[in-house]
Amino acid sequence: MTALELAGVSKVRGCGPLAVSALRGVSLRIDPGELVLLEGPSGSGKTTLLSVAGGLLRPDAGEVRVGGELLPPGDAEARRTVRARRIGFVFQRSNLLPGLDGLENVLVQAALAGLDEPLARRRAGELLDAMGVGHLAGRRVGGLSAGEEQRFAVARALVHSPSLVLADEPTASLDSAAGRAVVEALVALGRDRGAAILVATHDARLAPFATRRLAIVDGGVGPARGAPGEP
Ligand SMILES: Nc1ncnc2c1ncn2[C@@H]1O[C@H](COP(=O)(O)OP(=O)(O)O)[C@@H](O)[C@H]1O
Ligand SMILES: [Mg+2]
Repeated sequence: MTALELAGVSKVRGCGPLAVSALRGVSLRIDPGELVLLEGPSGSGKTTLLSVAGGLLRPDAGEVRVGGELLPPGDAEARRTVRARRIGFVFQRSNLLPGLDGLENVLVQAALAGLDEPLARRRAGELLDAMGVGHLAGRRVGGLSAGEEQRFAVARALVHSPSLVLADEPTASLDSAAGRAVVEALVALGRDRGAAILVATHDARLAPFATRRLAIVDGGVGPARGAPGEP
């Protein structure tokens, strides 16, 4: 089964004279176990594509399917349910809830996905230890560095073993050690659990693990230049 399918997806951002065609008839398919890089300059539509793929934004035209299931454009609640159970999001900035500690942030996501708590705690502990932040689990978000926060955000995205992970420049604001930990956690999820991973990134460390590279230019998606089989 295809993990993610976009068929003829278009999306305009903004309105009136400021409206921009951020996606122009994008079609793509990603299979389980694939790690696909999405490369493109700032403003090319990467964040819009990931947001539509994950049901955060509804497309103006076209269809999005996750694990074969249509994300209904007119039903935000149904999209939210699919997202909570099947999708993990990693944003450029961590977006952790500031009133909670790092582990609680991860457990909230697990609860939304319907995971029972003992399993959620075990899986959270494994992820946090693997990324070198297990000892910080009880620390309030405000006391974490950007790199530490992002590793909690990755654990939050992966705790329910989603079949699809969407990551928006997840290592862009990280130092090299934190960036490496994030890269390794994403690669391990694909390798060990067969998740499909779509990452908007220019991080060269991810390239050796990529099964495919896509380029986005002005809202249109095609194979990246220099990718296998391309000029
Ligand atoms: N909320 C918004 N309102 C108006 N225009 C937007 C909005 N979000 C994004 N855009 C525009 O849509 C285009 C694609 O943006 P985006 O998807 O954020 O690209 P990227 O992530 O590749 O930098 C850009 O021209 C951007 O200015
Ligand atoms: Mg962006």
